[in-house]
Amino acid sequence: MTTLPPYDVLIIGSGAAGLSLALHLARNVKVCVLAKSSLLEGATYYAQGGISAVLDKHDSIQSHLNDTLNAGAGLCDEAIVKYTVTHGAEQIHWLAQQGMPFTRFKEGQESNYHLTQEGGHSHRRVAHVEDATGRALESTLESQVHKHHNIDIFEQHIAIDLITSQKIGAQGNSVHGAYVLDRHDQQVKTFQAKTVVLATGGASKVYLYTSNPDVATGDGIAMAWRAGCRVANMEFIQFHPTCLYHPKAKSFLITEALRGEGATLQLESGERFMPRYDKRAELAPRDIVARAIDAEMKRLGSDCVYLDITHKPARFIIDHFPNIYQRCLAFGIDITRERIPVVPAAHYTCGGVMTDRQGRTDIDRLYCIGEAAYTGLHGANRMASNSLLECLVFAAAAAKNILQQLTGEDESISLPDWDESQVTLASEAVLVSHNWDELRRCMWDYVGIVRNNRRLQYAKRRIELLRHEIEEHYHLHCVSNDLIELRNLIVIADLIVQSALERRESRGLHYTQNYPTPDNSTQPLPTILTPKNHRPE
Ligand code: FAD
Ligand code: SIN
Repeated sequence: MTTLPPYDVLIIGSGAAGLSLALHLARNVKVCVLAKSSLLEGATYYAQGGISAVLDKHDSIQSHLNDTLNAGAGLCDEAIVKYTVTHGAEQIHWLAQQGMPFTRFKEGQESNYHLTQEGGHSHRRVAHVEDATGRALESTLESQVHKHHNIDIFEQHIAIDLITSQKIGAQGNSVHGAYVLDRHDQQVKTFQAKTVVLATGGASKVYLYTSNPDVATGDGIAMAWRAGCRVANMEFIQFHPTCLYHPKAKSFLITEALRGEGATLQLESGERFMPRYDKRAELAPRDIVARAIDAEMKRLGSDCVYLDITHKPARFIIDHFPNIYQRCLAFGIDITRERIPVVPAAHYTCGGVMTDRQGRTDIDRLYCIGEAAYTGLHGANRMASNSLLECLVFAAAAAKNILQQLTGEDESISLPDWDESQVTLASEAVLVSHNWDELRRCMWDYVGIVRNNRRLQYAKRRIELLRHEIEEHYHLHCVSNDLIELRNLIVIADLIVQSALERRESRGLHYTQNYPTPDNSTQPLPTILTPKNHRPE
């Protein structure tokens, strides 16, 4: 067992949220960043469309606020939305200062940044780097963090659980660090820190089909839940309407910005169907578009629908979407001449660990930012390109608060080592992989875009069974990366199903055949789940 020297701040996660936070902190304090895979790997790297912010003089904070509230279907926290959109432009400028190569001004737009439009936005307000914004963002942040001697980076290190006062039988309700598996040598290390930040991203890997990379297993949400934090709105899983449908294309997204530039959704027959569902047609919020595609696929028994941008000049398509053009071409689809076969896939976790405006959770000195957090920004449906914005705005807010907190006295506490004395067996991969597949298929089939009580109950029973097996397996076997992730995914599945069963209405991304309309008889509220070991303030 290894215990490292204590850090001021332990950041678990190296996406937009984790790395931008590290940069805000590193001038003042000693920071450690963990990435369970490589530093670059995470949802951030794959982001395409961009980052929303009010940058055009014809746009306004009020308009961004209204669009976000509309997309959120009555469940956004208006004060949080206002706070976030008000701080958008300064985050874009901050990124530009870090060296982010934003696509710049083209004729006909006032802002220096070239802005695209996406679903739900009534204005062009998405700053981007061609159609591969995330790659540029991660690379920019990565190059900056490597310049700081105050930032230590541990790649291939997966956090297993938080070390809280409750866990070690100490006084108070605070966090002291985390147990972490070093994937190089399979040793569990103890990371001690005065402050811990979960920046672990979302949980879309709990579904069989997803736009997300493999790391998106909801680890931070599961760790926080086990540690005693409340989570909220886990029923609101966003399905992105357009992922490439091709047997060899794992999780490849076709950005909504294509629709922003005029691409239409069509059936096999060539019929454009979105105008039948919403007057905003292809630019309706994602919940509406994904549900419409799902309904058309079910009605016709088809495997996919088609996205068509062939009416635009080839040069325009190649210039605006070089990444998508190349990837599709590699699969034999020339998007300048052919329609793109697409299907919806799980894309974004709107709920997460409950936090306040500074990213603080229910446990002292434990913060959560980025997709793992529930801030109240997205309500029942996240608007396109508001996620990276949230990562950046809340990283900056959390940094400010953390620096204020760290001026206090040091509390020295000795942490127990990871206890493997009861564990006798090496992990059996087949048990893990079987349960992993079963869980993800169960979530896709029973807890997908369209839900009902009967299917949710089926899912609940299966999850309960799997949970027992996985817990038993976890207690008997040495931990492995896959086992840690599976143990987290089962918690996530359980939280999603519990939340879906609690919401007796259809709203935003949660659509149930038993209650097909929103319940507007009372003020809609977030679904808040409280763990048994939660300590009220
Ligand atoms: P991530 O970027 O997912 O990073 C998570 C980090 O946590 C990783 O470093 C991972 O290794 C680490 N981690 C996780 N668990 C552990 C653990 N147990 N121990 C150690 N480390 C751990 N949003 C937009 O606003 N605009 C877009 O254009 C856009 N496009 C998207 C396109 C795709 C294909 C996808 C998948 C998402 C897109 N999104 C977009 C959503 C957005 O990219 C994500 O919500 C956002 O990047 C999340 O950032 P994050 O920092 O919270 O997490
Ligand atoms: C996209 O580019 O369509 C994804 C944008 C997002 O998820 O915000």
